[in-house]
Amino acid sequence: MTVREEILQALLDLDQKDLNLGDLSQRTMKNPEDQGLYLEVVKGVLSHRLTLDYYINQVAKKNKKIHAPIREILRLSLYQWIYLSKIPSRAIVYEGVNLAKKYGHKGSVGFVNAVLRRLTKERLDPEKIQGKTWAEGVSLRESLPLELVEYFEKIYSRQWTEAFAQASNERPGLYINLNPLKGSPQEIQASLEKEGLVIENRATKGTGFQVIKGNPLKTSSFKKGLYYIQDQGAMEVVDFAMKGYEKGTFKLLDVCGAPGGKSIGASFINPDLEVQCCDQSPEKLEKIEENIKRLGLKNIQPLLRDGRKGLPGEREAYDLVFVDAPCSGFGLFRRKPEIKYRRGLKDVKNLSKLQGEILSRSASCVKIEGSLIYSTCTLTLEENEEVVEDFLREYPNFYLDDQRVLLPQEGRDGFKMFRLVRKR
Ligand SMILES: C[S@@+](CC[C@H](N)C(=O)[O-])C[C@H]1O[C@@H](n2cnc3c(N)ncnc32)[C@H](O)[C@@H]1O
Repeated sequence: MTVREEILQALLDLDQKDLNLGDLSQRTMKNPEDQGLYLEVVKGVLSHRLTLDYYINQVAKKNKKIHAPIREILRLSLYQWIYLSKIPSRAIVYEGVNLAKKYGHKGSVGFVNAVLRRLTKERLDPEKIQGKTWAEGVSLRESLPLELVEYFEKIYSRQWTEAFAQASNERPGLYINLNPLKGSPQEIQASLEKEGLVIENRATKGTGFQVIKGNPLKTSSFKKGLYYIQDQGAMEVVDFAMKGYEKGTFKLLDVCGAPGGKSIGASFINPDLEVQCCDQSPEKLEKIEENIKRLGLKNIQPLLRDGRKGLPGEREAYDLVFVDAPCSGFGLFRRKPEIKYRRGLKDVKNLSKLQGEILSRSASCVKIEGSLIYSTCTLTLEENEEVVEDFLREYPNFYLDDQRVLLPQEGRDGFKMFRLVRKR
């Protein structure tokens, strides 16, 4: 398969096999030189899908139903024309038509040829797309669904929404959290460099490093558990949660724990923690087991539990309880652009109900003066502030001690976090 065919196949598999960008990024090209183009175009087409479709729909006949492979061929070709300006129009049309020959029929070959010729006649600049309203303009330029543009405009501001929409298409940095059980940061950095992995201490936390060169999944140091791959935003949630618990023996209950990131980050900060890391999904529980085994962490016990009912028996037993809740994930578009088209405001109501139930049930596990940390990787009010307000109304024996927001426009995944402390 040529690299463009691999890209097409990946884009088709995404929807047909319900995969995500992370799954597609694991595929390796036969020719290593093609890997960069593959990753760039797959991520780019997903991030900019609405913009690409805007142009395609202008040229394709109105109401014409375009079959999935043909639409993806147009999207991936047009992406290269608009966003990778070095590829000449001739090459784009030629490659697109070749793909259509294999994945379409005679009519669709002519259609792809005509559409691509029209669209590559001149340079297209998405910045110039106006839309009928301000919100539609942002939606089409930045490929953020219209309902989300309107929602964020209403609860934040136009400036916030535009900055968020733009940042959501950026390429996120790759970060790793070094495992203090396996050596000092300097020692680990030196062994990684021998394997061609170059890292720099750019994250805000002591053991958080940015990967500058190399694939951190493909080293023997990864297999030996020298680090955990984690966005710096997620590391900052752990820092927030662990404030005051950095030293000493404490019991931590991680209610929505898989694949274990927050429990692992917390154990890197304080190895004396005794952690029970729960999740309701058996497959995801295996991921926790896999991760803690690889990292050699003996203080974390994975448990299959539904946070709405069956949390570990002892009441009021934990110094710290994390509820890193299942959520709409609107803070993760940089890393998981497919979420833009899979989830919407219609999901928010059910999620906030689930979040409220999990948080309420978790409250009974928190010791007097202990902390309940509620966090999400989304930025809606319904899944954050409103869940916390409802909780505080229901549980006046807790107070809100602190809260923080991280935004993609600050170069990290978007998170909201709240520390609720149980009163004396
Ligand atoms: C945001 S993820 C957790 C990420 C994890 N804390 C980390 O840092 O690696 C939310 C998790 O909640 C789990 N989950 C969903 N509903 C749940 C429930 N009712 N009880 C417990 N876990 C649940 C999901 O399986 C998912 O793994």
